[in-house]
Amino acid sequence: MNWWQRVPARTAVAPSILAADAARLGEEVALVEAAGADLIHLDVMDGHFVPNLTFGPQVTAALSRSTELLLDCHLMVTRPEDLYESFVAAGAGAVSFHYEVDGDRPGLATELRGAGVRAGLVLNPPTPLEEELRALLPCFDFVLVMSVNPGFGGQAFLPEVLPKLSRLRQWREEDGLDLALEIDGGIGPATAPLAIEAGADILVAGSAVFRSSDYAASIAAIRS
Ligand code: DX5
Ligand code: ZN
Repeated sequence: MNWWQRVPARTAVAPSILAADAARLGEEVALVEAAGADLIHLDVMDGHFVPNLTFGPQVTAALSRSTELLLDCHLMVTRPEDLYESFVAAGAGAVSFHYEVDGDRPGLATELRGAGVRAGLVLNPPTPLEEELRALLPCFDFVLVMSVNPGFGGQAFLPEVLPKLSRLRQWREEDGLDLALEIDGGIGPATAPLAIEAGADILVAGSAVFRSSDYAASIAAIRS
């Protein structure tokens, strides 16, 4: 079974706790776990890379004590190399950072893998797929394609990113890579089929799950 799935061959759904009730986070995570979530997505924002602030290692550590699911930490931060270790220590199972930040990307990916977590590379909607990026892919366990501009939940899905997913799927095949493809932003029952069709293995969904009255039904609707 792939590391991102709880059930073999099933599209994984990763609820983003950005849209959960922050005063009841542990309970919210337990509810989506019982409702069939495969991973828990944590949107970490530093108020610099994006104009918003969320949570850090303390919340990550508290959640890792309240769920068996893998914690997928999406670092929307300018200096991931300074911060990743505290998320690993807090129990993250996957850590992704943005292609748009400066730094030694293959070096950081190798450090993440060496620390025992899955390494992910995130692409903002305007970021094109270039050969330089293709050459980095063997260093990563997953690519996260943003389908909204990062910083806030509840935005409208940008369908123009879908060709990037299909192209990444093609590169994965041609280059024989073991790479999961994740999509994040504006995913719900109406947009999920487009993402799955384009090649997504992991669907992040914030509002569509946590703003619904039936978490199990919304997760099932997104997956199918
Ligand atoms: C945006 C975050 C997303 C977001 C998804 O910066 O990376 O994970 O919370 O939220 P929805 O599903 O509401 O678009
Ligand atoms: Zn995210």
